[in-house]
Amino acid sequence: MKVLGIAGSPRRGGNTDLLLAEVIKGAASKGAETKTIVLNDLHFIACQHCDACLKKGKCKYQDDMQMIYNEFEQADRIVLASPIQFTGVTAQMKAMIDRCQCLWARKYVLKIPPLSNERQRKGFFISVGGRRVANLFQPALIMVKTLFRILDIDYAGELLFSGMDEKGAITKHPDTLYQAFLAGQKLVEE
Ligand SMILES: Cc1cc2nc3c(=O)[nH]c(=O)nc-3n(C[C@H](O)[C@H](O)[C@H](O)COP(=O)(O)O)c2cc1C
Repeated sequence: MKVLGIAGSPRRGGNTDLLLAEVIKGAASKGAETKTIVLNDLHFIACQHCDACLKKGKCKYQDDMQMIYNEFEQADRIVLASPIQFTGVTAQMKAMIDRCQCLWARKYVLKIPPLSNERQRKGFFISVGGRRVANLFQPALIMVKTLFRILDIDYAGELLFSGMDEKGAITKHPDTLYQAFLAGQKLVEE
């Protein structure tokens, strides 16, 4: 069982990083092989809408997204972590999602599986917002669930915490980190 964590925050050791680390620890405690990718450390351009993928089913840009496509292929579980920024996911996460247009093209234009269908993949979402307002996570949830649906990744759930703004605020609520650990265990047991 391979679990891939994708950290979408630019803030290293911030709230979503800490939660993601616990989910990954939980998964590892049940024997999963784990890997975490930090989007902010990578170099890839935003989707250029060149439409090359509509014919080839592949993105023509040879940058770090190629590594991510490969990691998606290898993963049984994919955990996306992004704080809320301007009511959505971070620019880093959105850029990654948009670059999955080539996987959309595989499925809906070329009628081939977006990812090899040897694995039954599941996806999980982690998010934190500084404010405490109704529907804080709705736009991000729609985006992330859309990505998972297009990639034929079953949605396995989420951890969403509002009212956590400063770096490390989540550590003042150790129950949230424990919830994350348990969620990681459950994700690989399902
Ligand atoms: C550019 C930017 C935009 C933000 N926009 C929102 C927002 O729309 N709603 C909200 O609740 N918090 C917003 N925040 C606060 C973050 O969601 C919050 O600080 C969160 O804890 C950061 O998580 P991290 O430590 O994992 O980066 C924003 C922060 C930044 C830097």
